[in-house]
Amino acid sequence: MNERATLITNEIVEAIRGVLRKNNVTFGEYRAGFMHLVKTQQAGEIPLLTDVFFNSTIVDIENESRKGTRADLQGPYFVPDAPVITDGQIAVEDEHKDKPVMVLRGKVTDLEGNPVAGAEIDIWHSTPDGRYSGIEKHGNMDKKFYRGRVMTSEDGSYEARSITPVPYQIPNKGPTGHLLENIMGGHSWRPAHVHYWVKAPGLRDVINQAYFEGDEWIGNDSCNGGLDEMVIPEVIENGERIMEVDFKLEPAVAKSLQAAE
Ligand SMILES: [Fe+2]
Repeated sequence: MNERATLITNEIVEAIRGVLRKNNVTFGEYRAGFMHLVKTQQAGEIPLLTDVFFNSTIVDIENESRKGTRADLQGPYFVPDAPVITDGQIAVEDEHKDKPVMVLRGKVTDLEGNPVAGAEIDIWHSTPDGRYSGIEKHGNMDKKFYRGRVMTSEDGSYEARSITPVPYQIPNKGPTGHLLENIMGGHSWRPAHVHYWVKAPGLRDVINQAYFEGDEWIGNDSCNGGLDEMVIPEVIENGERIMEVDFKLEPAVAKSLQAAE
């Protein structure tokens, strides 16, 4: 028997029963609810549905124990083994080479502010039409595009150039989109963002996202992501959007503690 799973499951069941009682939910409404779950399962959207509503809460819980840079949603479009960027240029498809350029730069330090050399920063972001490379449903574009791993120099700094991503809609043609947009009257948009996964030996890695100041969907993200400190002020240098993002990494979590998580 798994005591923790039992405890949490019992509390979820009790919480749902409380909502059903409070709202005098009828058998027809109950049936409509579970039929929606059946359709969600049939569409392969259980991960999407649960991520939309609950992943940000798990991130909030994780952040309570963080002393360095806080974490944000990983999202579903991370692909392992992205190309290592050695010339500072993230690959861009030919048809998008004239799109607005962004320069991603900053510094990785430990909690005391000492530079962290050799940290690996995995970066990924959308195309100018809101797709990700290496994703079957996005046309299986070669995963060398719009993603890559950058290493920090001796002084902890990093820099990479790419083109600017755009706000995009999470998959909205299935039951999750129907729930968000039609039943709940909401939307499926996310603000434009750049994903980061920063790793360094002996330090706790962090996954987060940087957002663009002035984006209309900031504060109204369908996935409830976003950290105020990761909304990057608009700085333009030579016509290029500068995304200056520093990361502060805390010591790695002890193995025994990780196992218990
Ligand atoms: Fe994303």
